[in-house]
Amino acid sequence: MSFELNGRPVSFDGDPQMPLLWAVRERFGLTGTKFGCGIAACGACTMHVNGNAVRTCVLPVQAVANAQVTTIEGISSLDTRTAVQEAWLSHQVPQCGYCQSGMIMAVEALLAQHPEPSDEQIDAAITNICRCGTYDRLRPAIHAAAKQRRELGA
Ligand code: FES
Ligand code: FES
Repeated sequence: MSFELNGRPVSFDGDPQMPLLWAVRERFGLTGTKFGCGIAACGACTMHVNGNAVRTCVLPVQAVANAQVTTIEGISSLDTRTAVQEAWLSHQVPQCGYCQSGMIMAVEALLAQHPEPSDEQIDAAITNICRCGTYDRLRPAIHAAAKQRRELGA
């Protein structure tokens, strides 16, 4: 089966039941997306599938046939940070960083749908678990990123 991975067509000939997380990490070598719980509870494995934030540890790779999959590696490059990444730096959100690629993918999907999210929308959308406890910094960083995106017309 084939799908698009960070804008490039790829084909996968392994077990179609393999979770997308492992296909992306082990077959395609993109290790920015992390494994946490394996039961769709923590969000460490979040990627975008057709623009939606999806927990890929429980999603069989066959479910993304012909879909567009985006990982943390696909949303920026070293010299073009997103507004979310800028806000993450300026608000010093990450601690150990393990949960943060999944967190950022969830936030990117939220802001694509809600350019000016309320606190309630943030709380409803960002249910990722962070064992370091970065929660207090999330809301201000998300509001700052949303503001910058609106100013840039992103
Ligand atoms: S590893 Fe997928 S939600 Fe925790
Ligand atoms: S920053 Fe360490 S788990 Fe979230």
